[in-house]
Amino acid sequence: MKIGYVQTNPKRGKREQNLESALALLADVEADVLVLPELFSTGYLFADREELSKVAEPTDESPTIEWMKKVAADKGCVVCGGFPELDRDNNRIYNSAVIVSFVGPLVHYRKLHLFDQEKELFDAGEMPPKAANIGLGVAGIIICFDWIFPETMRMLALDDAQVVLHPSNLILPHCQQAMITRCIENRLFAVTANRVGSEELNEKKLTFTGHSQIVAPDGTVLKQAGAEGEEVGVVEIDPNQASDKMVTENNHLLKDRRVDVYESLLYTDKERQGRL
Ligand code: ACM
Repeated sequence: MKIGYVQTNPKRGKREQNLESALALLADVEADVLVLPELFSTGYLFADREELSKVAEPTDESPTIEWMKKVAADKGCVVCGGFPELDRDNNRIYNSAVIVSFVGPLVHYRKLHLFDQEKELFDAGEMPPKAANIGLGVAGIIICFDWIFPETMRMLALDDAQVVLHPSNLILPHCQQAMITRCIENRLFAVTANRVGSEELNEKKLTFTGHSQIVAPDGTVLKQAGAEGEEVGVVEIDPNQASDKMVTENNHLLKDRRVDVYESLLYTDKERQGRL
């Protein structure tokens, strides 16, 4: 299974231009799975919810998903990437990502852990990430800041994922290093597709950290992009490596968990205070 990241530099609000330049990057690329960044077609910074709502896309009428379906059809692969999702029925806007085949979405995930001012713009997802067979392996999605909550990737490990696709717009340092641990502690592959460049809005300027990467279940960084510049990186993996959860002859990564003493993990901070 050939998996790859597509590191792009989206321009805010310029969907057509962003999709065109992502397509140009893919001209000579061969892969089974391609991962683009979080919000790769729209850019990241929005003044307010009203501005965001102008570019938010319902899943059944999404120019970004249509573009991904076409890339999937033309290249004979599946494509993962992020987009602002409008849920018209409930008047919600999610920071979402999908894994798409030429037919349509195979996996759909709404970001659970909103970063910083995303909380003023987006609604947080309500459902756990789910893994699904995407053809040559089993994959699921986490989005950017989800990396700092190890529960997110653990849920995918418990759902039999082999590969975690991780569309990102990273700002804080450490994610790329932390993902090595996330892969070791779950024995999973991960493809972090980050963006580069910066965005400015009013007094705010955000610079994105690049260094998209692909990590193996043993923590080996199989491929990493530079800090700046658009680029694509593809490696061939055997997803079945991620199904071996034996750490030693006597230790199974998931079966050895002590859920009998993990009870406190199930409570919110407030509930925990109440129990003390
Ligand atoms: C982030 O979650 N986009 C930092």
